[in-house]
Amino acid sequence: NEGSLWGGRFSDGPADAMAALSKSTHFDWRLASYDIAGSRAHAKVLQRAGLLTEQELADMIAALDKLEADVLDGTYAAAQFDEDVHGSLERGLLERAGTQLGGKLRAGRSRNDQIATLGRMFLRDHARIIAGGVVDTLDALLGQAKAHPYAPMPGRTHLQHAQPILLSHLLLAYAWPLLRDVQRFVDWDKRAAVSPYGSGALAGQTLGLDPNFVADELGFDSAVYNSIDGTAARDVFAEFSWITAMIGVDLSRVSEEVILWATKEFSFVKLHDAFSTGSSIMPQKKNPDIAELARGKAGRLIGDLTGLLATLKALPLAYNRDLQEDKEPVFDAADTLEILLPAVAGMIQTLTFNTERMADLAPQGFALATDIAEWLVRQGVPFRDAHELSGAAVQLAESRGVELWDLSDADYAGISEHLTPAVREVLSTEGSLNARNGQGGTAPSAVAQQIVEFERQLDSV
Ligand code: ARG
Repeated sequence: NEGSLWGGRFSDGPADAMAALSKSTHFDWRLASYDIAGSRAHAKVLQRAGLLTEQELADMIAALDKLEADVLDGTYAAAQFDEDVHGSLERGLLERAGTQLGGKLRAGRSRNDQIATLGRMFLRDHARIIAGGVVDTLDALLGQAKAHPYAPMPGRTHLQHAQPILLSHLLLAYAWPLLRDVQRFVDWDKRAAVSPYGSGALAGQTLGLDPNFVADELGFDSAVYNSIDGTAARDVFAEFSWITAMIGVDLSRVSEEVILWATKEFSFVKLHDAFSTGSSIMPQKKNPDIAELARGKAGRLIGDLTGLLATLKALPLAYNRDLQEDKEPVFDAADTLEILLPAVAGMIQTLTFNTERMADLAPQGFALATDIAEWLVRQGVPFRDAHELSGAAVQLAESRGVELWDLSDADYAGISEHLTPAVREVLSTEGSLNARNGQGGTAPSAVAQQIVEFERQLDSV
């Protein structure tokens, strides 16, 4: 069987069905450059251990460079009969270095430690790309927050009007979790920066190779301390997948808000033409498809994570072929976010807010009732009583179909002697917002401080 890595003890080649099931080149080929980088490092460590001469090393590196160039320009590609990227690239190396020299490279390594290492290299690179896309999305949210420093809007709980808030405060509330996702990647990378190369099939190698040399060559901080762990663990994959799923969920929440805001009933935002779509039948339509795809793709990212965890559940150590199923979920997660994030960032960056309508609605629906209660507390009324009195004002206003500020001084006095005309100082959106000026509050001064801290943390990731 041409190109096979394991023919020696077999008298027959694999059945077609066996080969078809086993094959992974259609998805692991994208690891080819990482595989070749690993081979360069491995050739160097073989030379350092006295297993390749200087000349052999130079010839091996030249052959690997040629192989990589041929892979990148498509001159060399996986063949139908190649089982996986490792086997195919060994075949390509033998063609370029000759079987005598090329046949020396596999000493002291296994596809088990190779694939575990290449996977981490791929994930570390893509964690950086994804984090860059999240940072662009954060810049879009932050840009909109800074462009609207004093824009009030209705704050909601249970989707019902609750208390007035600043638009900038809400935009930042969608930004903080995404900033934490970037911080999670930074922290995750400490665990990902450990190289399994040198673990061999499971028990290490007998050839006196220095795994830390290889680790350093490949940009890792160190080599693993347990070869079984090195070949069998995939928690670093699962954690990556969890972070990508969380990013999907975080994007889906802001997206859902954009979908609501863009409805006729809300009319809080206008989507930019370039970041929305039309209908094939209804000429008037302008649809928030980016936000809907973000919402939908969150499900897919969660599926990638749960599929991977299910593969790992109860899997005995060390390597089992089940682990070949570790790659497609994380590849899919990376591909999904790398295509989604630029679209979401563009959509957010180009939103036009109807700040007048949002400000008009901010105090409506009795959203200042808490302010009346807390004003009464400042006059010495116990909160339980204050809550009741403010509730009575709401009931009266609701029965008349008016808002709290439409009630007369006499109406308030009729509810309680404590409700003097001075209560009107909190019966405005501005008064309500300005009063919430402690750290984390929605007052313009507090939000300005929040932005300083947000930018400090963003700058340091
Ligand atoms: N292609 C395999 C994977 O992706 C690596 C090869 C290990 N195969 C083996 N029979 N030990 O996990």
